[in-house]
Amino acid sequence: MPSAPVGLYVVTCPGREHLLAQTLDSIRACDWPTAPVVLTQPADWPVGWESTSRMYQTVLQRAWDDGCWWVLVLEDDVLVCRHLWANVTRWHPVATGQLHWGSLFVPDTIYEPWRRECPELAYRLARPELVHGPHDLWQKHRLWGSQAYLFSRGGVRKLLDKWDTCSGGQDARVLTAVHGEGWPLWYSYPSFVQHNPLQSAFATPPAYAPDFDPDFRLPPHDPDVYRHPEGVPGWLTYREGRELWAAARGRRVLELGRLYGRATVALAQSAAALVSVDIEDPEPAGSWLARFGLAGRADLRRGAFADIVPSLGSFDLVFVDGSHDGPSVRADLALARSVLAPGGTLACHDYPDPFWPDVRREVDAVARERGLVRYRQADYLGVFRAPQ
Ligand SMILES: C[S@@+](CC[C@H](N)C(=O)[O-])C[C@H]1O[C@@H](n2cnc3c(N)ncnc32)[C@H](O)[C@@H]1O
Repeated sequence: MPSAPVGLYVVTCPGREHLLAQTLDSIRACDWPTAPVVLTQPADWPVGWESTSRMYQTVLQRAWDDGCWWVLVLEDDVLVCRHLWANVTRWHPVATGQLHWGSLFVPDTIYEPWRRECPELAYRLARPELVHGPHDLWQKHRLWGSQAYLFSRGGVRKLLDKWDTCSGGQDARVLTAVHGEGWPLWYSYPSFVQHNPLQSAFATPPAYAPDFDPDFRLPPHDPDVYRHPEGVPGWLTYREGRELWAAARGRRVLELGRLYGRATVALAQSAAALVSVDIEDPEPAGSWLARFGLAGRADLRRGAFADIVPSLGSFDLVFVDGSHDGPSVRADLALARSVLAPGGTLACHDYPDPFWPDVRREVDAVARERGLVRYRQADYLGVFRAPQ
């Protein structure tokens, strides 16, 4: 069991003592409860990327050995905001245990890598898929965050396992090592850390976080703000999750098809009562609900829909996301309708996704026959109102 909740490390090299002193002054002036661990590159290592990257590996190994649950690695030329501890420990991706790799510093050289910006939860999400392939708008030299990388313990383990198989400086190695993991890359919004670019060790232009606010303090979580489960495996998009969250508010909700609980977490944030049914083990969803502070907000049932649903009573909203072949969709819709209150809401995932034509065909047929009216659509989530 890791011993330290968030370890704070500063990495430096000889000849930068004046910068390091400013960095440490700024850390002392903030609310971080412990002194940082400062690790200095040995004086006889040659100057260059090989050494800085090797030094970064040393820091990660030290953090792993120290048993940190989260690891914040600062370079020696930064200023931190006054409420760094409060901000890091309250930050959505940390508070919900979703983060493996993030940065608290967004330099002005980063060029439009955002998949999403959620200022209400102080994060931006980058698009790692653009790193490779024909749309590599977002490249290594445009990604920059190692002034203030934040890793989970699992993230540190992955990096250490792959470090020596990668090449380049720490940014390049981190990027390569995590490629294919499917981890979102989180950036704080605003930056909690500022570059103090008095001098660049490699003569690169100084980069700056225009949105750094030294007094920024994250407010406590507001239950009226939707928190998308970006880190829970699944396909539910932000818009779909938000739509479900809005539709579920204050209502009795049934979910058919839970898998790892991506939609369960969205629904449980606002539903008055939620029953979720799946043939698979409920443990992953239960664990994600707990991380979001939603333990006990969903009744997770295990079994076939047909065996469980008939005994559940009636619901104001039924969300259907089971198997996507025609006979299954038809059977699931019949079950859903059998427990849907008059005037209730039926939400169907993968409607009208062209990859799942049966879903559209079956849902349209039922809507036509039973007088269901589609009144909302978010990406591939169709939301229908049943007749009174
Ligand atoms: C597409 S996944 C659900 C994804 C989930 N809603 C999410 O947000 O990530 C479909 C799930 O439905 C479950 N399922 C399909 N048909 C079922 C049935 N007849 N009874 C119980 N579970 C079923 C599968 O086990 C699978 O976990």
